[in-house]
Amino acid sequence: MADSTPKSGHDQVMPAKRAQWLRAELDRHNRLYYVEARPEISDRDYDQLYSELADIEERHPELASDDSPTRRVGGAPLKEFTSVRHASPMLSLDNTYSREELLEFLNRIARRLAGRTCSYVVEPKIDGVAVTVRYKQGRLEQGCTRGNGEVGDDITANLRVIRSIPLRLAGAQPPPLLEVRGEVFMPRDGFAELNRMRREAGATVFANPRNAAAGSLKLLDSAQVARRPLAAVFYGLGAATGAAPERHGELLEYLRSMGLPVPPRHWICAGPEDVLRALDELQSSRDNFPFETDGGVVKVDERELYEALGMTAKSPRWAVAFKFEPERAVTRLRAITVQVGRTGVLTPVAELEPVALAGSTINRATLHNADDIKRRDIRVGDLVTIEKAGEVIPVVTGVDKSVRDGTEEVFAMPGNCPSCGGAVT
Ligand code: IVH
Repeated sequence: MADSTPKSGHDQVMPAKRAQWLRAELDRHNRLYYVEARPEISDRDYDQLYSELADIEERHPELASDDSPTRRVGGAPLKEFTSVRHASPMLSLDNTYSREELLEFLNRIARRLAGRTCSYVVEPKIDGVAVTVRYKQGRLEQGCTRGNGEVGDDITANLRVIRSIPLRLAGAQPPPLLEVRGEVFMPRDGFAELNRMRREAGATVFANPRNAAAGSLKLLDSAQVARRPLAAVFYGLGAATGAAPERHGELLEYLRSMGLPVPPRHWICAGPEDVLRALDELQSSRDNFPFETDGGVVKVDERELYEALGMTAKSPRWAVAFKFEPERAVTRLRAITVQVGRTGVLTPVAELEPVALAGSTINRATLHNADDIKRRDIRVGDLVTIEKAGEVIPVVTGVDKSVRDGTEEVFAMPGNCPSCGGAVT
């Protein structure tokens, strides 16, 4: 911390000044942590600054402010969300599934530009929940879901508790109006931990991080949302006043300079060849991202060309999604064992014939619970499909019943606990 900073002793004399400094400092550390991934202080030091601010605000309620970092705890539960019409529609993207299809799309762009050239930006396609967030004079004013693209739900209270979404934009002169679009996601490790806790508590688990994020944003109690590990990434602009950057790559830098989290990597590409190379790089580096990536998004870099390129019914002609092959494999289910959680919950685990999946050898997979095994009629000896679904351990997503030879065995939960021998309830 800089030496010129007010010391806590000053609090007695000028609590307003100290609170203001603490807020700015906490905002800055949030940004360093969530946006720039280079924290300067320990969690413990952060907590200390935070408690000092909370303390001042408690003793001087007149100093409390809506955009204080202490106001991330959540407000009173809602009965329902209100509908909001988007200032400009939230579009979706056309998908391409092969290099040929993608090259065709890029060729169409070239034809439409009739001689003008353009470059492209490749960025990860974040598998989350699309949101739009409006800042007025740099303050977070409203946040909504995509809904049907025209009308979404007002989820402002839930977005305010997500730490990586700034309540105030950084910089001395934020634009009067800035609406940013992006994705809320549940980081992989947070998702795995949430499911672990839910499994232990006997609650239903989420199928994947996207469902977990969507389910969390639908909660009517933002205090509950605050306990869910959620994060956000922004990659686009809605309504905005003032001059916006001319290129998409610059737009990402611009958003980042205001303290907004943007995709961790993007590639500027001169032409189709570069685009294909970037998509390869993206695919091989995607495990390093905290979110699930089921593909890349290719966007024309020159934003001034967007109007000329126009759109189809629901998607722009200047951007397209390129979907990766899902990470899936088929193997034999050798056995189903039962794992005992810390709180005594029994979880069935698939023991598999080892198979290669997304760069590692897999020999175990998650089977959610006994009812699920029964409902899907999964038997020991079956050929099963496993898929990476965000958790470290893959999940059994399918079973091929057509190749059974009659030796497959129906699974039954043991009557006694494999760990303590006690009766299973
Ligand atoms: S751009 C007008 N960029 O994917 C273009 N979308 O399948 C609007 N998505 O509705 C979207 N990552 O919710 C864009 N880097 C990214 C994205 C992204 C994920 C979502 C978005 C969109 C959906 C389309």
